[in-house]
Parts: sequence; C-alpha cells; structure tokens
Amino acid sequence: MEALITILPGDGIGPEVAAAGKRMLAAVADKFGHRFEFSEQLIGGAGIDAESSPLPPDALASCKDSHAVLLGAVGGPKWSDPKAPLRPEQGLLDLRAALGVFANLRPVEIFPELAGASPLKAELLEGVDIMVIRELTGGIYFGEKKRDADSATDMCVYTVPEVERIVRVAARIAQGRRKRVSSVDKSNVLETSRLWRDVTSSVMTSQFPDVSLEHILVDAAAMHLISRPADFDVIVTENMFGDILTDEASMLTGSMGMLPSASLGDSGAGLYEPIHGSAPDIAGQGIANPCGTIGSVALLLRHSLGLEEEATAVESAIRRTISAGHRTADIAVSGDTPLGTDAMTDAILAELQA
Ligand code: IPM
Ligand code: MG
Repeated sequence: MEALITILPGDGIGPEVAAAGKRMLAAVADKFGHRFEFSEQLIGGAGIDAESSPLPPDALASCKDSHAVLLGAVGGPKWSDPKAPLRPEQGLLDLRAALGVFANLRPVEIFPELAGASPLKAELLEGVDIMVIRELTGGIYFGEKKRDADSATDMCVYTVPEVERIVRVAARIAQGRRKRVSSVDKSNVLETSRLWRDVTSSVMTSQFPDVSLEHILVDAAAMHLISRPADFDVIVTENMFGDILTDEASMLTGSMGMLPSASLGDSGAGLYEPIHGSAPDIAGQGIANPCGTIGSVALLLRHSLGLEEEATAVESAIRRTISAGHRTADIAVSGDTPLGTDAMTDAILAELQA
C-alpha cells in the first residue's frame, strides 16, 4: 500500500527516537512491499525556535493530509519559563484537538525479562496486561484558563457525548480482551466525575452487557496499580487522570521508555507517540530507548494502515530483541552492557529481518 506519514521529531530525545521509528517504518515498507512517503515537520520548542509557533501551519496541514503521524516528544527547560508566551506542549494539545484524536490507547505490557528493571516485586508483575484508554481532547487540559494577580483557574468540563464515545472505545477494546472495564474517576469530589460515572454505567449496561464494569476512585486506582496490577484489563479515564496513571503504570514495565501510544479519532490521521517525554537530561547523547517509539510504529501500522501482520512483526521483533538480552541504559541492570539508541534500533531491525 501507499501511505503518507508525517514525522514530528520535536524536542530533546524526540529527534533520536523519531529517527528510530522512521527507520522501522522504512524497513517494514521494504520487507512487505509498501510505499511510505515521509514528511518531516516541526512541533514544540523546535517550532517555536524556527517559526515562532509550537505547531506551525505547515506542520498541521501535513498532519491533516497524512494517513498517520509519528511524534517524538515535546518540551524542555529552554521553553519552560512560566511567563513565556508560547509553550511547546501547547503544540501537542492543539494537534490532538485539530486531529480530533479523543481516544488515547496506552497498552501496558510486561516483558518478563525486564522484571528486574521494575521497582516492583517480580511476583506482582505476573500476568500484567493492561490497556489504558485515556480521554485526550477534553477535561481540564482544554477548559478555560484564567490568571490574575492572586488567583488562577483551570476549568474542567466534560459533556455526555464526550464520555459516551470514549467509554464505547474502551468497551469495544475490552470485548477483544478479558471483557473487564475499570472506570477511574473522583466522583466523591468532582461533579465532572459524577457525570462520568453516570454516563459510563448507562453506556455499559445498555450497550455492553457482556463486559463487566467497576468504578474506582483515582486515588485508590493509583494504589491498586501497584498492589494488584494483574487484576486490571481495560482502564478508562479522563484526560488528566490518564496522564498521571500511565506514567505510574509504565514503571510496571521497568521504564517509561518502553510504552507506546496511539491516539485515535472517528476518522482521519491517527497520532502515535511514545508516552515518555523529551528527557532533556539525556538528550543528544544517543542513549534513549527507542522501544516506545517503535512500539508506536506497530500501533500505527495496525490502527491507521490496517497492516496487522506488519504490526505483529514489529512487536515480535521488539520482544525477541529484549529476549536476546539487548538493553538500553534505562532497562539495563547490573551486568548488562547498555546499547545506544541506534544500536538498539539495529538489533530490532535485525530481528524484523530474521
Ligand atoms: C503525555 C504528556 C503530555 C500530556 C504533555 C507533554 C502535554 O505528558 O502525552 O502524557 O500531558 O498529555
Ligand atoms: Mg504524560
């Protein structure tokens, strides 16, 4: 097939991992006989520096014209002054809104060989396989913001249709898995959460009687993710809770560097990015873990291009690379000699060819 893919390297380690993702896409095209055309564009701090915009119009136009978008990471200390008029993160939020990608899929899968890299006891990690569905274009991230001399406001708004559509995504995904949805909210305090809980119950009972539903308060969910992570199947939650809980959940796998994500709407381009940030502390050193980005390439192949065989081949190449003992610094334990980003990518590409 032919596909146009926009690559948004962004900031910090973003360009390093995005390059790894692009290499994997090119290798898949080669191996399976597809033609992928790439359009590299600016986002985040890179966009602010070159075009005075965290999402330059050309970049947005390219994303909208593409079948899919692969993003590295945005942000960094250079653009973090609270008084700065432009922030790199705003480019990413605007892109999510413009593409209408309201459903953010963040699979948390354990690589048994990496149990030693996780701060949790190995026995707690057995059987962990969680899909977090984070609502991505609503809630407190997108409500009105106000600031005056001595106060600040962030509005959190959710509408019934916004909750309905994300719960439907979660339930459909659960139908293909262990048929359990855990909806996470803070309904003992927040009105938006009370709406979230009511709507979730009503969608699940009326449309998905075959899928079980539990409601969990976000503080308890944070604890259960550590104390009994294997009990979760699909977690569905609002934008900010999903942001926080997926950083926490990533540590089950040993490193944030392992986690991919897919952001999907009803139609149009999907947006794919590792869940980690721009990691300014290691940027430019060539040591970032490319697994989260290459895993995101697999999700891109599956969800935006419908290439299931290719997606599975990429995921299996990552698995076999880890099984063969290759490690980047973030997942290395004592005795391992860590590989850099390019060498780790070489190893994964070699497994794809094998
Ligand atoms: C994420 C990131 C972003 C978010 C930031 C960079 C705006 O933390 O994708 O998880 O909060 O959504
Ligand atoms: Mg985050």
